[in-house]
Amino acid sequence: MEGGEPKIRLTAVNLTKKFDRKIIFENISFELSAGSSLAITGKNGSGKSTLIKTLANVIEKSSGEINFYSDGSEVKKEHYYKHIGFVSPYLNLYDEFTGYENLKIISNIRGINGDNINNVLKKVGLYDRRGDLLKIYSSGMKQRLKIAFSILHNPLILLLDEPTSNLDSEGVRIVDEIANDYKKDRILIIATNDENEKSLCESEVNLDRGD
Ligand SMILES: Nc1ncnc2c1ncn2[C@@H]1O[C@H](COP(=O)(O)OP(=O)(O)O)[C@@H](O)[C@H]1O
Ligand SMILES: [Mg+2]
Repeated sequence: MEGGEPKIRLTAVNLTKKFDRKIIFENISFELSAGSSLAITGKNGSGKSTLIKTLANVIEKSSGEINFYSDGSEVKKEHYYKHIGFVSPYLNLYDEFTGYENLKIISNIRGINGDNINNVLKKVGLYDRRGDLLKIYSSGMKQRLKIAFSILHNPLILLLDEPTSNLDSEGVRIVDEIANDYKKDRILIIATNDENEKSLCESEVNLDRGD
């Protein structure tokens, strides 16, 4: 390994996203390395979720650059999912399976073994409800399961889109703990307008444009 290379680095250079000809965000640039955190803020419809999805390589950027390095070498776009954890209101879970089974399915898709599932279920406070079908989970329990899903593979980058929506105070405390843990030596990005979520991050990109 080359000396002095940061362990993890994520950079965006002039990142722009359009849907058809409509500009959602334009020329967004930032540089994050291990131990840094970023809040993506802006009013409803300003493009926060779209930016999070673009960074996760779930949707395509229109122009600009995203670069992700781990241990000095560039991570290929098709491998992002192995190193990025993602919590989003758009994430679909399987209603006809239990909480445990949902995480097992995701582990299989990601090609990781399921050894960590019970620990992660304990961490988000769902261990006792792991055998219940998702269709009887409350919205807060589903949100906790999404958080479990995002950290299951111990990713280098954690992307949280309004992570504490639907959560009770205990759920908020769990998110704070996970966020603080990621901030120590990995990268944390939160799309939010919530003051508590914002306060977890050291830097901010605001997507509001002068309109
Ligand atoms: N797949 C899509 N096709 C067209 N427009 C979209 C699509 N997804 C989001 N948008 C639009 O992009 C804008 C930003 O949406 P979003 O990123 O969800 O904002 P935020 O998360 O800040 O509330 C909105 O105007 C939304 O309607
Ligand atoms: Mg959003």
